[in-house]
Amino acid sequence: MPITIQLREAAARLAQAGLPSPRADAELLAAFVLGVPRSRLLSIDDLTVSQRARYLELIDKRAQRVPLQHLTGEAPFLELNLKVGSGVFIPRPETELLARWGIAALTGCNGPTVVDLCSGSGALALAVAAARPDAQVYAVERSEEALKWLHLNTYGSPVTVIEGDIREVELPLNVDLVLSNPPYVPAGADVAPEVLADPPEAVFAGADGLDLIPALIDRAARLLRPGGRLGFEHDDSHLSLSDLLEAWFESIESHRDLAGRPRFTTAIRKA
Ligand SMILES: C[S@@+](CC[C@H](N)C(=O)[O-])C[C@H]1O[C@@H](n2cnc3c(N)ncnc32)[C@H](O)[C@@H]1O
Repeated sequence: MPITIQLREAAARLAQAGLPSPRADAELLAAFVLGVPRSRLLSIDDLTVSQRARYLELIDKRAQRVPLQHLTGEAPFLELNLKVGSGVFIPRPETELLARWGIAALTGCNGPTVVDLCSGSGALALAVAAARPDAQVYAVERSEEALKWLHLNTYGSPVTVIEGDIREVELPLNVDLVLSNPPYVPAGADVAPEVLADPPEAVFAGADGLDLIPALIDRAARLLRPGGRLGFEHDDSHLSLSDLLEAWFESIESHRDLAGRPRFTTAIRKA
């Protein structure tokens, strides 16, 4: 059967299951099975019998809302391809905005020291390390399961992994940049089925989603040098973060995500 028809049928199946981007998922899974870039798919005539069986199996799992990244074992993040699977949070496109902001914030800073608090797969730490080979980058994570993925992704990279709780671990002082995508979703919030495949401690943070953010701000304030920058992600219901930041920080700015919702806040450590 021509690949165009197989893609159309797979996309229809995924649309029926309520997926938000069925055609893209059908193409990405076909490209994964064939071991070719998505852009080369239409140059392929057909799948072999075993490729077709594997493809249908993956489409079936995706229709049951297994995250695409768990099926391929990879999550793209800026120029990186991170290894992901059960036990680690899948990096999201909106966090790429925070990574880009952080990299831009280091402009003019030579040999910067950067800390990624709540590092998960290492997305933010590795993106900064890739953009700034002169940086010393530390990635802090406490979940044993997530740490396995963090070590896998940072292996051979210049990122230093620090195992433990962001409120307790020893870290260098006079840091130039702190980035963080902590758990921040209010418990009981209505989330997409795929989010339930992420570890709960990576996503949810108490009734208002603010269980960790005040401690994160406090830790960042103590790590940063005067003039150092903080950027962290939060829920779009967290509108009064300035109250938590003002004692230590100035130039507090709220940034929106791709859907136009307030998604991350940045600030400069006061002198
Ligand atoms: C939302 S995930 C973010 C992962 C990664 N930064 C990203 O953007 O893809 C939050 C991560 O914080 C970790 N975490 C939660 N509480 C923590 C704490 N108190 N200390 C260290 N890590 C923590 C979780 O295990 C999880 O890996």
